Amino acid sequence: MSLFGLEGKKALVIGGGRGMGESTALHLARAGCDVAVLDNARERAELVADEVAKLGRRSMAVVADITDEAAVQKAVADVEAELGGLEVLVTIVGQALFKPLVEMTLEDWDAEQARNLRYVFVTAKAVARSMLARESGGRIVCIGSIDGVVGAPMHAAYGAAKAGLMHLVKSMAAEWGRDGIRVNSVCPGSITTPRLPETPESLAILKDSVIPMGRPGTTDEIAGAALFLASDLSGYVTGHTLLVDGGWMAANIFDTRFFNVKKSNE
Ligand SMILES: NC(=O)c1ccc[n+]([C@@H]2O[C@H](COP(=O)([O-])OP(=O)(O)OC[C@H]3O[C@@H](n4cnc5c(N)ncnc54)[C@H](O)[C@@H]3O)[C@@H](O)[C@H]2O)c1
Repeated sequence: MSLFGLEGKKALVIGGGRGMGESTALHLARAGCDVAVLDNARERAELVADEVAKLGRRSMAVVADITDEAAVQKAVADVEAELGGLEVLVTIVGQALFKPLVEMTLEDWDAEQARNLRYVFVTAKAVARSMLARESGGRIVCIGSIDGVVGAPMHAAYGAAKAGLMHLVKSMAAEWGRDGIRVNSVCPGSITTPRLPETPESLAILKDSVIPMGRPGTTDEIAGAALFLASDLSGYVTGHTLLVDGGWMAANIFDTRFFNVKKSNE
Protein backbone atom coordinates (compact mmCIF):
# COMPACT_ATOMS: atom_id res chain seq x y z
CA MET A 1 0.00 0.00 0.00
CA SER A 2 1.37 3.43 -0.90
CA LEU A 3 1.87 6.07 1.77
CA PHE A 4 -0.50 8.57 0.15
CA GLY A 5 -3.13 6.12 -1.08
CA LEU A 6 -3.43 8.06 -4.33
CA GLU A 7 -2.13 5.47 -6.78
CA GLY A 8 -4.44 5.42 -9.85
CA LYS A 9 -6.78 8.12 -8.50
CA LYS A 10 -8.08 10.79 -10.85
CA ALA A 11 -7.53 14.44 -9.92
CA LEU A 12 -8.65 17.79 -11.32
CA VAL A 13 -6.60 20.89 -10.51
CA ILE A 14 -8.45 24.14 -11.19
CA GLY A 15 -5.90 26.83 -12.07
CA GLY A 16 -3.22 24.20 -12.54
CA GLY A 17 -1.33 26.11 -15.23
CA ARG A 18 1.35 27.76 -13.12
CA GLY A 19 2.63 28.46 -9.62
CA MET A 20 0.82 26.65 -6.82
CA GLY A 21 -1.43 24.93 -9.36
CA GLU A 22 1.50 23.56 -11.35
CA SER A 23 3.26 22.40 -8.15
CA THR A 24 0.09 20.74 -6.92
CA ALA A 25 -0.55 18.96 -10.23
CA LEU A 26 3.00 17.60 -10.20
CA HIS A 27 2.87 16.56 -6.53
CA LEU A 28 -0.37 14.65 -7.20
CA ALA A 29 1.16 12.98 -10.26
CA ARG A 30 4.28 11.96 -8.29
CA ALA A 31 1.96 10.44 -5.67
CA GLY A 32 0.30 8.33 -8.38
CA CYS A 33 -2.67 10.38 -9.64
CA ASP A 34 -3.81 10.87 -13.20
CA VAL A 35 -4.25 14.64 -13.44
CA ALA A 36 -6.46 16.98 -15.45
CA VAL A 37 -5.11 20.54 -15.52
CA LEU A 38 -7.75 23.23 -15.97
CA ASP A 39 -6.75 26.80 -16.77
CA ASN A 40 -8.02 29.69 -18.87
CA ALA A 41 -4.54 29.93 -20.44
CA ARG A 42 -4.29 27.06 -22.94
CA GLU A 43 -0.50 27.09 -23.22
CA ARG A 44 -0.04 26.86 -19.44
CA ALA A 45 -2.54 24.00 -19.09
CA GLU A 46 -0.87 22.07 -21.92
CA LEU A 47 2.67 22.59 -20.57
CA VAL A 48 1.72 21.27 -17.12
CA ALA A 49 -0.28 18.38 -18.60
CA ASP A 50 2.87 17.46 -20.57
CA GLU A 51 4.92 17.51 -17.35
CA VAL A 52 2.37 15.19 -15.71
CA ALA A 53 2.58 12.82 -18.69
CA LYS A 54 6.39 12.79 -18.40
CA LEU A 55 5.91 11.42 -14.87
CA GLY A 56 4.13 8.44 -16.40
CA ARG A 57 0.56 9.42 -15.49
CA ARG A 58 -2.42 10.05 -17.72
CA SER A 59 -3.02 13.77 -18.12
CA MET A 60 -5.37 16.16 -19.79
CA ALA A 61 -5.35 19.91 -20.43
CA VAL A 62 -8.72 21.63 -20.09
CA VAL A 63 -9.34 25.23 -21.09
CA ALA A 64 -12.22 27.00 -19.31
CA ASP A 65 -13.04 30.23 -17.50
CA ILE A 66 -14.07 29.31 -13.96
CA THR A 67 -16.48 32.24 -13.72
CA ASP A 68 -18.65 30.59 -16.40
CA GLU A 69 -20.86 27.94 -14.75
CA ALA A 70 -21.73 26.12 -17.97
CA ALA A 71 -18.05 25.98 -18.98
CA VAL A 72 -17.08 24.52 -15.60
CA GLN A 73 -19.82 21.88 -15.76
CA LYS A 74 -18.75 20.91 -19.28
CA ALA A 75 -15.10 20.76 -18.20
CA VAL A 76 -15.89 18.41 -15.30
CA ALA A 77 -17.98 16.19 -17.60
CA ASP A 78 -15.20 16.14 -20.22
CA VAL A 79 -12.58 15.15 -17.63
CA GLU A 80 -14.77 12.37 -16.25
CA ALA A 81 -15.40 11.07 -19.77
CA GLU A 82 -11.67 11.07 -20.59
CA LEU A 83 -10.02 10.01 -17.32
CA GLY A 84 -12.91 8.35 -15.50
CA GLY A 85 -14.65 9.44 -12.29
CA LEU A 86 -12.79 12.05 -10.27
CA GLU A 87 -11.66 11.29 -6.72
CA VAL A 88 -9.66 14.48 -6.06
CA LEU A 89 -10.48 18.14 -6.73
CA VAL A 90 -8.13 21.01 -5.89
CA THR A 91 -9.28 24.60 -6.48
CA ILE A 92 -6.42 27.07 -6.83
CA VAL A 93 -7.72 30.06 -8.83
CA GLY A 94 -8.09 33.29 -6.86
CA GLN A 95 -6.89 36.83 -7.04
CA ALA A 96 -7.06 39.93 -4.85
CA LEU A 97 -8.24 43.32 -6.04
CA PHE A 98 -6.42 46.09 -4.18
CA LYS A 99 -8.80 49.03 -3.81
CA PRO A 100 -10.04 51.28 -1.00
CA LEU A 101 -13.46 50.19 0.21
CA VAL A 102 -15.02 53.58 -0.48
CA GLU A 103 -13.99 53.29 -4.14
CA MET A 104 -15.08 49.69 -4.58
CA THR A 105 -18.00 49.24 -6.95
CA LEU A 106 -20.64 46.52 -6.92
CA GLU A 107 -19.03 45.16 -10.09
CA ASP A 108 -15.67 44.92 -8.25
CA TRP A 109 -17.34 43.18 -5.33
CA ASP A 110 -19.22 40.68 -7.50
CA ALA A 111 -16.11 39.90 -9.59
CA GLU A 112 -14.12 39.13 -6.42
CA GLN A 113 -16.83 36.77 -5.16
CA ALA A 114 -17.07 35.09 -8.58
CA ARG A 115 -13.36 34.33 -8.95
CA ASN A 116 -12.59 33.50 -5.31
CA LEU A 117 -15.75 31.89 -3.91
CA ARG A 118 -18.65 31.32 -6.32
CA TYR A 119 -16.65 29.14 -8.71
CA VAL A 120 -15.59 26.86 -5.86
CA PHE A 121 -19.27 26.22 -5.10
CA VAL A 122 -19.97 25.58 -8.80
CA THR A 123 -17.00 23.25 -9.29
CA ALA A 124 -17.32 21.34 -6.02
CA LYS A 125 -21.04 20.86 -6.67
CA ALA A 126 -20.39 19.37 -10.11
CA VAL A 127 -17.62 17.08 -8.87
CA ALA A 128 -19.41 16.03 -5.66
CA ARG A 129 -22.61 15.26 -7.55
CA SER A 130 -20.67 12.69 -9.55
CA MET A 131 -18.85 11.34 -6.46
CA LEU A 132 -22.21 10.91 -4.71
CA ALA A 133 -23.76 9.15 -7.71
CA ARG A 134 -20.78 6.76 -7.93
CA GLU A 135 -20.62 6.34 -4.12
CA SER A 136 -16.84 6.68 -4.52
CA GLY A 137 -16.13 9.24 -1.83
CA GLY A 138 -13.47 11.81 -2.58
CA ARG A 139 -11.24 14.61 -1.41
CA ILE A 140 -11.68 18.30 -2.11
CA VAL A 141 -9.00 20.85 -1.23
CA CYS A 142 -9.60 24.59 -1.69
CA ILE A 143 -6.88 27.22 -1.61
CA GLY A 144 -7.98 30.15 0.56
CA SER A 145 -5.87 32.90 2.12
CA ILE A 146 -4.94 34.24 5.52
CA ASP A 147 -6.90 37.30 4.34
CA GLY A 148 -9.96 35.17 5.02
CA VAL A 149 -8.78 34.74 8.62
CA VAL A 150 -7.96 38.35 9.48
CA GLY A 151 -9.06 41.64 7.95
CA ALA A 152 -6.70 43.58 5.69
CA PRO A 153 -6.91 47.11 4.33
CA MET A 154 -7.46 47.50 0.58
CA HIS A 155 -8.78 44.05 -0.15
CA ALA A 156 -12.00 43.68 1.77
CA ALA A 157 -13.93 41.97 -1.03
CA TYR A 158 -11.17 39.36 -1.46
CA GLY A 159 -10.98 38.74 2.30
CA ALA A 160 -14.76 38.39 2.56
CA ALA A 161 -14.73 35.87 -0.31
CA LYS A 162 -11.89 33.86 1.26
CA ALA A 163 -13.66 33.90 4.67
CA GLY A 164 -16.77 32.66 2.87
CA LEU A 165 -14.66 29.95 1.26
CA MET A 166 -13.58 28.62 4.68
CA HIS A 167 -17.21 28.49 5.74
CA LEU A 168 -18.27 26.80 2.50
CA VAL A 169 -15.56 24.19 3.09
CA LYS A 170 -16.96 23.46 6.56
CA SER A 171 -20.51 23.20 5.22
CA MET A 172 -19.45 20.86 2.40
CA ALA A 173 -17.52 18.73 4.92
CA ALA A 174 -20.60 18.57 7.16
CA GLU A 175 -22.98 17.75 4.32
CA TRP A 176 -20.87 15.08 2.57
CA GLY A 177 -18.92 13.54 5.49
CA ARG A 178 -21.06 10.39 5.68
CA ASP A 179 -20.62 9.92 1.94
CA GLY A 180 -16.85 9.68 2.35
CA ILE A 181 -16.10 13.06 0.80
CA ARG A 182 -13.59 15.06 2.83
CA VAL A 183 -13.30 18.81 2.22
CA ASN A 184 -10.51 21.01 3.55
CA SER A 185 -8.78 24.28 2.78
CA VAL A 186 -5.19 25.51 2.69
CA CYS A 187 -4.63 29.16 3.56
CA PRO A 188 -1.34 30.51 2.22
CA GLY A 189 0.45 33.45 3.78
CA SER A 190 2.98 35.24 1.57
CA ILE A 191 4.03 32.90 -1.23
CA THR A 192 6.48 33.52 -4.06
CA THR A 193 4.67 32.81 -7.32
CA PRO A 194 5.11 33.63 -11.02
CA ARG A 195 2.44 36.33 -10.59
CA LEU A 196 4.02 37.66 -7.39
CA PRO A 197 7.79 37.11 -7.67
CA GLU A 198 10.06 38.38 -4.89
CA THR A 199 12.35 41.37 -5.22
CA PRO A 200 15.33 42.15 -2.98
CA GLU A 201 13.15 44.81 -1.33
CA SER A 202 10.23 42.47 -0.65
CA LEU A 203 12.57 39.82 0.77
CA ALA A 204 14.10 42.41 3.09
CA ILE A 205 10.64 43.44 4.30
CA LEU A 206 9.65 39.82 4.95
CA LYS A 207 12.94 39.14 6.79
CA ASP A 208 12.12 41.91 9.24
CA SER A 209 8.36 41.32 9.31
CA VAL A 210 5.94 39.83 11.83
CA ILE A 211 6.24 36.45 10.07
CA PRO A 212 8.15 34.18 12.50
CA MET A 213 9.92 32.31 9.69
CA GLY A 214 10.99 35.62 8.13
CA ARG A 215 10.71 34.46 4.53
CA PRO A 216 8.05 33.86 1.88
CA GLY A 217 6.69 30.38 1.27
CA THR A 218 7.18 28.42 -1.94
CA THR A 219 4.59 26.95 -4.27
CA ASP A 220 5.88 23.49 -3.34
CA GLU A 221 5.11 24.20 0.32
CA ILE A 222 1.48 24.91 -0.63
CA ALA A 223 1.39 21.83 -2.86
CA GLY A 224 2.72 19.70 0.02
CA ALA A 225 -0.15 20.80 2.26
CA ALA A 226 -2.69 20.20 -0.54
CA LEU A 227 -1.23 16.74 -1.17
CA PHE A 228 -1.48 15.88 2.53
CA LEU A 229 -5.15 16.91 2.63
CA ALA A 230 -5.89 15.02 -0.61
CA SER A 231 -4.18 11.87 0.63
CA ASP A 232 -4.92 9.05 3.05
CA LEU A 233 -2.45 10.65 5.48
CA SER A 234 -5.24 13.05 6.47
CA GLY A 235 -7.91 10.33 6.54
CA TYR A 236 -9.75 11.71 9.61
CA VAL A 237 -9.41 15.42 8.73
CA THR A 238 -12.35 17.28 7.24
CA GLY A 239 -13.74 20.81 7.43
CA HIS A 240 -10.25 21.97 8.42
CA THR A 241 -8.31 25.09 7.46
CA LEU A 242 -4.57 24.45 7.31
CA LEU A 243 -2.59 27.69 7.55
CA VAL A 244 0.65 27.57 5.56
CA ASP A 245 1.99 30.97 6.52
CA GLY A 246 5.37 30.61 8.24
CA GLY A 247 3.62 31.09 11.59
CA TRP A 248 2.18 34.50 10.65
CA MET A 249 -1.25 33.92 12.20
CA ALA A 250 0.20 32.13 15.25
CA ALA A 251 2.46 34.84 16.60
CA ASN A 252 2.15 38.25 18.18
CA ILE A 253 5.62 39.46 17.32
CA PHE A 254 4.49 43.07 17.19
CA ASP A 255 3.50 42.78 20.84
CA THR A 256 6.98 41.53 21.84
CA ARG A 257 8.73 44.31 19.92
CA PHE A 258 6.43 46.97 21.35
CA PHE A 259 7.01 45.97 24.98
CA ASN A 260 10.74 45.62 24.43
CA VAL A 261 10.99 49.32 23.56
CA LYS A 262 8.75 50.51 26.41
CA LYS A 263 10.38 51.17 29.78
CA SER A 264 9.38 49.25 32.89
CA ASN A 265 8.70 51.18 36.13
CA GLU A 266 9.76 48.25 38.33
N1 LIG B 1 0.63 34.32 -3.84
C1 LIG B 1 0.32 34.55 -2.59
O1 LIG B 1 1.10 35.11 -1.80
C2 LIG B 1 -1.05 34.11 -2.08
C3 LIG B 1 -1.35 34.37 -0.73
C4 LIG B 1 -2.56 33.93 -0.23
C5 LIG B 1 -3.44 33.26 -1.04
N2 LIG B 1 -3.14 33.03 -2.35
C6 LIG B 1 -4.10 32.26 -3.15
O2 LIG B 1 -3.40 31.26 -3.84
C7 LIG B 1 -4.10 30.94 -5.05
C8 LIG B 1 -3.14 30.98 -6.23
O3 LIG B 1 -2.64 32.28 -6.40
P1 LIG B 1 -1.61 32.58 -7.56
O4 LIG B 1 -1.27 34.03 -7.47
O5 LIG B 1 -0.52 31.58 -7.53
O6 LIG B 1 -2.55 32.35 -8.82
P2 LIG B 1 -2.28 32.69 -10.38
O7 LIG B 1 -2.69 34.09 -10.66
O8 LIG B 1 -0.92 32.25 -10.78
O9 LIG B 1 -3.39 31.79 -11.02
C9 LIG B 1 -3.30 30.38 -11.03
C10 LIG B 1 -3.74 29.91 -12.38
O10 LIG B 1 -5.14 30.17 -12.52
C11 LIG B 1 -5.39 30.60 -13.84
N3 LIG B 1 -6.62 31.41 -13.87
C12 LIG B 1 -6.75 32.70 -13.48
N4 LIG B 1 -8.01 33.12 -13.68
C13 LIG B 1 -8.69 32.07 -14.21
C14 LIG B 1 -10.03 31.88 -14.66
N5 LIG B 1 -10.92 32.88 -14.60
N6 LIG B 1 -10.39 30.67 -15.14
C15 LIG B 1 -9.48 29.66 -15.21
N7 LIG B 1 -8.20 29.78 -14.82
C16 LIG B 1 -7.81 30.96 -14.33
C17 LIG B 1 -4.15 31.37 -14.25
O11 LIG B 1 -3.97 31.35 -15.67
C18 LIG B 1 -3.03 30.62 -13.54
O12 LIG B 1 -2.39 29.65 -14.36
C19 LIG B 1 -5.26 31.93 -5.14
O13 LIG B 1 -6.44 31.33 -4.65
C20 LIG B 1 -4.81 33.06 -4.23
O14 LIG B 1 -5.91 33.77 -3.72
C21 LIG B 1 -1.96 33.45 -2.89
